[in-house]
Amino acid sequence: MDRIRIRGGKPLSGSIPIGGAKNATLPLMAAGLLSDGPLVLENAPDLADIATMRALLVQHGMKVEHDKAQRRLVLSGAADNLEAPYDLVRKMRASVLVMGPLLARFGEARVSLPGGCAIGTRPVDLHIKGLEQMGAVFDLEGGYMHAKAPATGAGHFLRGAKIIFPQVSVGATENLLMAAALAEGTTELVNAAREPEIGDLAMCLMRMGARIEGIGTDRLVIEGVKQLGAATHPIIPDRIEAGTYACAAAITGGTLLLEGARMVDLGAVVRTMRECGVDVAEETEGLRITRKGGLRGADVMTEPFPGFATDMQAQFMALMCVAEGASMITETIFENRFMHVPELTRMGARIKYHGQSAIVRGVPKLSGAPVMATDLRASVSLVLAGLAAQGETIVNRVYHLDRGYEAIERKLSAVGAAIERV
Ligand code: EPZ
Repeated sequence: MDRIRIRGGKPLSGSIPIGGAKNATLPLMAAGLLSDGPLVLENAPDLADIATMRALLVQHGMKVEHDKAQRRLVLSGAADNLEAPYDLVRKMRASVLVMGPLLARFGEARVSLPGGCAIGTRPVDLHIKGLEQMGAVFDLEGGYMHAKAPATGAGHFLRGAKIIFPQVSVGATENLLMAAALAEGTTELVNAAREPEIGDLAMCLMRMGARIEGIGTDRLVIEGVKQLGAATHPIIPDRIEAGTYACAAAITGGTLLLEGARMVDLGAVVRTMRECGVDVAEETEGLRITRKGGLRGADVMTEPFPGFATDMQAQFMALMCVAEGASMITETIFENRFMHVPELTRMGARIKYHGQSAIVRGVPKLSGAPVMATDLRASVSLVLAGLAAQGETIVNRVYHLDRGYEAIERKLSAVGAAIERV
């Protein structure tokens, strides 16, 4: 079981290349099921979750080449197995994104219910309800969702519908957007998620021949087509990776250039970082993050984009542990996303949480300790704390990290961190 050892206290400086977005690549790969392709995805990251999605698509019958040197994924062929098995789905919830494409193109899908995960129960009821509105009939048995959509006679399986989301859901928006691309007639997605990864998926579908309006807004209108074709699509940079390394610059009192990062993708995170005393500037090659003076505490509430990203909550909390004053952090998206709190506390942080809100009282210094990761973003918040802490920090269970951060110890040691995998 790999572990990461960090000796903290060094201000970071230099530049870090930001990879393709994990949470864009996963739905983009599922979109490969919608056509025989080839679908060429450029700027693809080399992450454990990408390998899992690749294994899932290969067992569906797709051909998926991943040229890691060229950072390119090439998807081609047609699925001949319509089942997404439990042992893959339980490893990665994003597997549920194959459901819309399989139903739209083949009229049937048998997908294991993903089950919960560390940060919450994470149901998929919004995915199911939306697909039912488009004509799919679901039978939930044996832990699987078995869905069928009778052919409409016009060469489609699903029919367009007006779907109003009672709450914003990234995955449900993505599943239904892909399903609508091949449905008969018009689909309207109201209260759709507006995360940059949705816009990236929509752009890729358009390149494949889909007809979509309202990209970037919370109302998407899709005119179904009979068939989608080949396309080449550059994946957007990973805004959460960028935000994470921005916190690394801030927490160590250094300066970093985040190559390829885009200010617009960080939404409210930029405003909050500036409120804490961190300078965020857009340069031609990316975002320049600098912390000169002290860090001030700031309050955040996680919200759907363009609000403060829930995937940045744990990293920001680590930063607030060494800020002057107090900060209040409220998590509104997931019901159990404070597992990093007890671990940060072991490093000397002063945090109390009750329900969905945590109060962090800044301390002058954290102290290194052996800590345990529990999910992807909680684990990286412990790395951030270790970078600033006095002494040595050992982060256990780093397989969580490898799901979402490519070569994190290489990228951080290149800018002066004393970090190694043991
Ligand atoms: C995506 O998950 C991301 N994953 C998550 O990133 C991210 O935290 C989340 O969006 C919110 O931004 C990928 O893109 C692969 P949701 P997703 O559907 O789609 C509830 C990371 O660290 N909900 O927007 O699963 C749900 O329980 C991961 O990279 C329903 O109730 O998130 C949650 O409370 C973690 N019913 C809220 O909505 C549903 O049918 C938002 O979930 C679907 C969701």
